[in-house]
Amino acid sequence: MSTLLLLPGDGIGPEVCGEVRRVAQVLTPDLNVEERIYGGASYDAHGTPLTDEVRDAALASDAVLMGAVGGPQWANAPRHLRPEAGLLNLRKAMDVYANLRPAYCFEALADASSLKRELVSGLDIMFVRELTGGVYFGQPRGIEDLGGGQKRGVDTQIYTTAEIERVARVAFELARGRGNRVASAEKSNVMESGLLWKQVVTELHARDYPDVQLEHILADNCAMQLVRAPKQFDVIVTDNLFGDILSDAAAMLTGSLGMLPSAALGAAGKPGLYEPIHGSAPDIAGKGVANPLAAILSFEMALRWSLNRADAADALLAAVKAALDGGARTRDLGGELSTAQMGDAVLANLGR
Ligand code: NAD
Ligand code: IPM
Ligand code: MN
Repeated sequence: MSTLLLLPGDGIGPEVCGEVRRVAQVLTPDLNVEERIYGGASYDAHGTPLTDEVRDAALASDAVLMGAVGGPQWANAPRHLRPEAGLLNLRKAMDVYANLRPAYCFEALADASSLKRELVSGLDIMFVRELTGGVYFGQPRGIEDLGGGQKRGVDTQIYTTAEIERVARVAFELARGRGNRVASAEKSNVMESGLLWKQVVTELHARDYPDVQLEHILADNCAMQLVRAPKQFDVIVTDNLFGDILSDAAAMLTGSLGMLPSAALGAAGKPGLYEPIHGSAPDIAGKGVANPLAAILSFEMALRWSLNRADAADALLAAVKAALDGGARTRDLGGELSTAQMGDAVLANLGR
C-alpha cells in the first residue's frame, strides 16, 4: 500500500488539505493517508517548523502533499525557525530539485483570467523551476552590522554545472512529451550564474536534445512575454527565484493563484513533494472560502508522478473540469462557493 503524507501547515493549508483528504477517501480508499503537524503550527508546538520525525516520515513516504506555511504571527521568529525555513529544509532534505508548475487554463475559466480570453484560451505552459539551489540556499548570507547605524544584507546566488544540467534535463525530457519546445530563462546579461546557466543548457541541448527546440530568453523579457502572448511558451526552465516569481505571474493567466498545483521531483523512485503554489493566505484563512483546487490538482499530480495511479489522476482531472464546466466557482474565481462546496462539486463529478 502506498503512503501519502499530508502536511496541512498553516492558514488556509488545513482547509484546502481537508478537501484533498475527502477526495482521497473516495477516489483512492486503498491509499494510506497519514498526517503530521508542520510549519508555524509545528513551531508553536515543538519550537521548530520541521521536526526530525516529520522529515523522516516524509522521506519514508511515497509522496508528500503540503498545504501552505507561514503567516504574520511568525514574522518575528528567527529566520531559521520560520515556517518558510521548514519548507526549504524539507525540499532540501527530499532533494526535490525539479519543481514542475503547470499553468494550464481550463476552458471554463478563460474569462476569469485578468487577460483577454483569446490570449489564455488553450494555454498550457509547464514551468520547470530549479528548487534546491540558487539564492535560496547560497552562502554567505545574513545581515551584518557595519557600525554607525549601517547594516548590510547579503544573499548569494550560486549554481553549479551539475545543478543546472539535472534540472535542464528534466525540462528537455518533459518537452519531448508535449510541444517539444524549451525556453530557458536567466539573466546571462548581468549575472555570472546566468551565464553559466545559458552555457550548460546550450551544451546539454547540443549533446543530448538537438531534436528539441531551444530558446534562451532573459527573465525580464520572459515576464513581459508571459502577459503579452503567453501561448508562445511550452516548457520554461529557470532558476529558483525567477521560477517563483514567473509562476505566480502565470497563475493569473489561469484565473487564480488558487488554481495552480506543483510537483517537486528528485531522483527516480524517491518521494515527490506536492504543493499548491499559493501561500497560507492570511487574509482569508479561517473563513472557509479558499479555493481547494490547487491542492486537489496537486494531489492529481501526486497520483500521476509518485503514486503510479494515472487512472485515478485522469478521473480526478476530469472531475475538476466537469465541476468548472458546471459553473462551480469559489470567490477568487468570481463565484460564491465555499471551500467545502467546491470539494463537493469535485466529488459529485467523480461519479463514485
Ligand atoms: P498567498 O499566496 O498566501 O496569498 C496571495 C493572495 O492570493 C491573497 O490575496 C490570498 O487570499 C490569495 N489566495 C492564495 N491562495 C488562494 C486560494 N487557494 N484561494 C483563494 N485565494 C487565494 O501569498 P502571500 O500573502 O504573499 O503570503 C502569505 C504567507 O504564505 C507568507 O507567510 C508566505 O511566506 C507564505 N507562502 C507560503 C507558500 C507555501 O507554503 N508554499 C507559498 C507562498 C507564500
Ligand atoms: C513557493 C513559496 C516559497 C518559495 C516560500 C514560502 C519559501 O513562495 O513555494 O512558491 O519562495 O519557494
Ligand atoms: Mn511563491
